[in-house]
Amino acid sequence: MNAIVIGGNKTCCMDYTNKEVLQIDQLTITNHLPDIGIGKIREEIITGLTSGNKYISSKFFYDEVGSGLFEEITKLGEYYPTRTEKSILRSIASRVMVNTQYVDIVELGSGDCSKISIFFDAVNPHNMEGLHYLPVDVSQSALQHSANSLIERFPGLQVSCQVADFMCQVGKIPYNAQRLFCFFGSTIGNFEIDEAKQFLIGLSQSMQPGDQLLIGFDMVKDEKVLHAAYNDAEGVTAKFNKNILNVVNKLIGSDFNLDSFYHLAFYSKKKARIEMHLVANEEVKVNSPHFQGGSITIKKGEGIHTENSHKYTLFDIHHFAQLSGLELKEIYTDANGWFSLAHMVKPA
Ligand code: AVJ
Repeated sequence: MNAIVIGGNKTCCMDYTNKEVLQIDQLTITNHLPDIGIGKIREEIITGLTSGNKYISSKFFYDEVGSGLFEEITKLGEYYPTRTEKSILRSIASRVMVNTQYVDIVELGSGDCSKISIFFDAVNPHNMEGLHYLPVDVSQSALQHSANSLIERFPGLQVSCQVADFMCQVGKIPYNAQRLFCFFGSTIGNFEIDEAKQFLIGLSQSMQPGDQLLIGFDMVKDEKVLHAAYNDAEGVTAKFNKNILNVVNKLIGSDFNLDSFYHLAFYSKKKARIEMHLVANEEVKVNSPHFQGGSITIKKGEGIHTENSHKYTLFDIHHFAQLSGLELKEIYTDANGWFSLAHMVKPA
């Protein structure tokens, strides 16, 4: 079965204007983004581009093209996180999926759903019926594609796609059972440390006693390994980084030329994070009807900060659990200690 949504803007997959709900048998799609609204999104982008240190939020990477480029990144030799996390997921899948038949599985930032599939693969097909999966992502097209292939692969599975910004809309996700939250990929690493703490505190507050959280953390490691993961030889990460300007062009009607910028990614040991920037090759004038005065100027050599990707220690993970009031049950790690999956539970 193929789910086809009728009407709406299907090509731009961050749809902040059109609230629509689709329902076909096992599959529903709900778009919560209009509750934020395009006006607020434009304001956020303009604020970043007109501030002293220019920035664009990394959530704007993931339009249809960007989601595809990220998938390409996950297959690169240099990019170890996805591969490493998946190997951990494989080793714990059957343990995690015991007694999940009446649990709502909520995945924040579900992308192509290839990680959660590892869990579903560990479920006896006869027990698929009654399993409820709620992927949350800003990319409606990514959700649609992956939900379609999931219900084909796992008959009986019920999928309720939530198009939403999980940073501020976790409270909107419906539930009627105990929940297992999955937050894979070290996506938490995109947040500033304080934001990450606030996010976990908020998530913990929205959890009921007994609800669980499985959260991935990319770990501090050899700087050469980190550097290579964000500076791949094929230049896919550079393409991914630059594509954010296309997304901004669509959202604020601007005319960024991608060729005027180069990709910069480096590890800051002090901040324990990879930083990604787009640096202007030349002086650039960018027009948008939403800029005050109609345009901004970016100086030659000036950067736009597009992403932080924090790296953590075991101590950090313990600290996060403690301060959000979650009980840390287990930390699963690969043999190199490059990536960790923490299992936390909301206490009574
Ligand atoms: C999806 C946020 C975990 O930070 O490693 C990959 C995104 N950026 N290459 C990461 C990303 C550049 C990725 N996360």
